[in-house]
Amino acid sequence: MSIDAARPRAPIDVMRARAETPGTRHVAHFNNAGAALLPQPVLDAVAEHQELEARIGGYEAEARNGAKLEAVYDSIARLLSCDRTEIALVESATAAWDMAFNAVASLPGGGFRPGDRILTARAEYSANIIPFLQAARRTGVTVEVIPSDETGQTSVDALEAMVAESGQGRGTGRVALIAITHIPTNGGLVNPAAAIGRVARRHGIPYLLDACQTVGQIPVDVEDLGCDFLSATGRKFLRGPRGTGFLYVRKDWLDRIEPHTLDHSGAALVAADRYEMRPDARRFELWECNVAARIGLGAAVDYALSWGLEAIRDRAFGLAETLRRRLAELPGVTVRDLGAERCAIVTFTVDGREPRAIKEALGGQGINVSVSSAASTRFDMDARGLTDLVRASPHYYNSEEEVERLVTAVRGE
Ligand SMILES: Cc1ncc(COP(=O)(O)O)c(C=O)c1O
Repeated sequence: MSIDAARPRAPIDVMRARAETPGTRHVAHFNNAGAALLPQPVLDAVAEHQELEARIGGYEAEARNGAKLEAVYDSIARLLSCDRTEIALVESATAAWDMAFNAVASLPGGGFRPGDRILTARAEYSANIIPFLQAARRTGVTVEVIPSDETGQTSVDALEAMVAESGQGRGTGRVALIAITHIPTNGGLVNPAAAIGRVARRHGIPYLLDACQTVGQIPVDVEDLGCDFLSATGRKFLRGPRGTGFLYVRKDWLDRIEPHTLDHSGAALVAADRYEMRPDARRFELWECNVAARIGLGAAVDYALSWGLEAIRDRAFGLAETLRRRLAELPGVTVRDLGAERCAIVTFTVDGREPRAIKEALGGQGINVSVSSAASTRFDMDARGLTDLVRASPHYYNSEEEVERLVTAVRGE
């Protein structure tokens, strides 16, 4: 199957999207925030390369498909509206985020110092909070959560006030990093990432954006967002293979940012005692990788672009809003999503029912949902006094009938 990446189409042809998604014949998949069902073009791209590896050898297959591998950077650059030299391919969003975080932490001449402040969001993902705590222990930085506004999203006014405190005789240090999650793992919230980016840029503060749940779900433009670094994964709303992800590094940083882990592909050993880093963001890559998965990631990006990210967002958000409305009508069900604008991640609880038991019961009926636990978004869940939530995350290829099936199954619980 060929991919027509050139022409965005709207609205979504749901029949075609489902026909091109073999998994829809087996499950009603509402776990796109976990890992989405792969479309046929992605399956084909991965299988073709793996077969080639088996036939002619791994290095030889990489050489033959070199152009395809290079094209992955162009595809992601289109997706984010950035330059291909600003992209590094890695294994996961966490790998991307950690690379950026650790590089900022140890920036030559500007790394974290005792008393520096990291400002983050209440909805921050736990895999990011743990490195914050490590950095606090190792370097003496403090980690501060930006309060949320009355809708539950990160308050830009509160951020402004916290930045204004810095170095103004109130004993607060420099803000060394703003690191927030755009769309959290545990609900429909969409944080005002672009407004936060404007604050960061105005004050010259490095800005690291976790866009793991964002890419493939809504349009992303790194210029609008104003972020210096953006981390993302392939397997969620982008519908790429597992074990893929990428890091965006704004060009301005490439003259000074050095990966914490640097190998002989990210840098050249030009003399026995001297190395030179690559000029582009690919210095953040390590030599060995799953080439088939990376080619599959490129196919997934092209496939998403061929539908158009606006069309994808509109349909996925629409299905999620229907699901929220229908769930809220059920006795004992509480929808838990925050924010002024709500995305395609729906979370809810049912009085007297354990979320894990609901997930299991739905799974038995061929309906995939997941459970968001407090440990994955500790700041937010503790602040709201929540433990586990049922999470249902539709995508554009889900049908209205599947939404009704899910609602009926929850009612029958
Ligand atoms: C908001 C957010 N950030 C980061 C991650 C981590 O992504 P990965 O598992 O690809 O490292 C997740 C995964 O669920 C997530 O939801």
